[in-house]
Amino acid sequence: MISAEPALEAPQRRYDVPAHVGVIMDGNGRWAASRGLPRIEGHRRGLEALRGTVRAAIDFGLDYLTVYSFSMENWNRPVEEVADLMGLLKRFIRNDLGDLHKSGVKVKVIGGRANLKPDIRALLAEAEDLTKANTRLTLIVAFNYGGRQEIAAAARSLALDVAAGRLNPSEIDETLLAQRLDTAGIPDPDLIIRTSGEQRLSNFLMWQAAYSEFVFLPMHWPDFDREAFATALAEFSARERRFGGVTAQGRNGKIKI
Ligand code: FPP
Repeated sequence: MISAEPALEAPQRRYDVPAHVGVIMDGNGRWAASRGLPRIEGHRRGLEALRGTVRAAIDFGLDYLTVYSFSMENWNRPVEEVADLMGLLKRFIRNDLGDLHKSGVKVKVIGGRANLKPDIRALLAEAEDLTKANTRLTLIVAFNYGGRQEIAAAARSLALDVAAGRLNPSEIDETLLAQRLDTAGIPDPDLIIRTSGEQRLSNFLMWQAAYSEFVFLPMHWPDFDREAFATALAEFSARERRFGGVTAQGRNGKIKI
């Protein structure tokens, strides 16, 4: 069950807490290969790590957690692996939605829906609908998501308004474009964590990550746990964020504890 543990001993008490953390859950395949296991086993263990991460995000007092679960480029994987990942998404929603709801988690899904199977689309809609009034943590599941595609869709939507005479091109600025992204209304991620030692964005939140801090961890995603999460938050709290200016703007996105 995903429920908040008593918060007093929680690691966030020692750190500045980011309001929004994005996570690139990388390394499931390598985790499995290094144990002689099939890749699906890595993804299954990755789902366990995701559950623990949501729990920790609640306990640490985050407002938003965005997890990169399936990229638009992941369709290029073998059909069996794509089917496994679709199955895990279904399992996650079917098994965990009730607990997420009870814990006050609001689920939001970003990414393309049109080319997903109807049963998956229905589950995503059900998760969003059931939890829409929750306020404790917003869990943003990036599924069938691509940052460049998201920006292109926003540009297309603005262009349609211009073509229809509803919008003057001179009115287009970064605020207006951001309102057409899947993440409209959600603050940019303060911190992006990537596991597995790779140090790249891989089309994750391309627009939103302009001033995010990055923490790269060597462990593979299935080994990511509360302690690793706390380590990343501690690293974040030691950073000075200047957002292009010369003075620190406060180290974090939320509050100092
Ligand atoms: C990257 O590892 C991980 C993914 C492409 C999928 C992430 C999925 C989960 C954490 C399981 C939960 C899933 C859902 C849908 C909720 P990789 O396979 O690229 O690892 P590798 O780089 O070592 O091969």
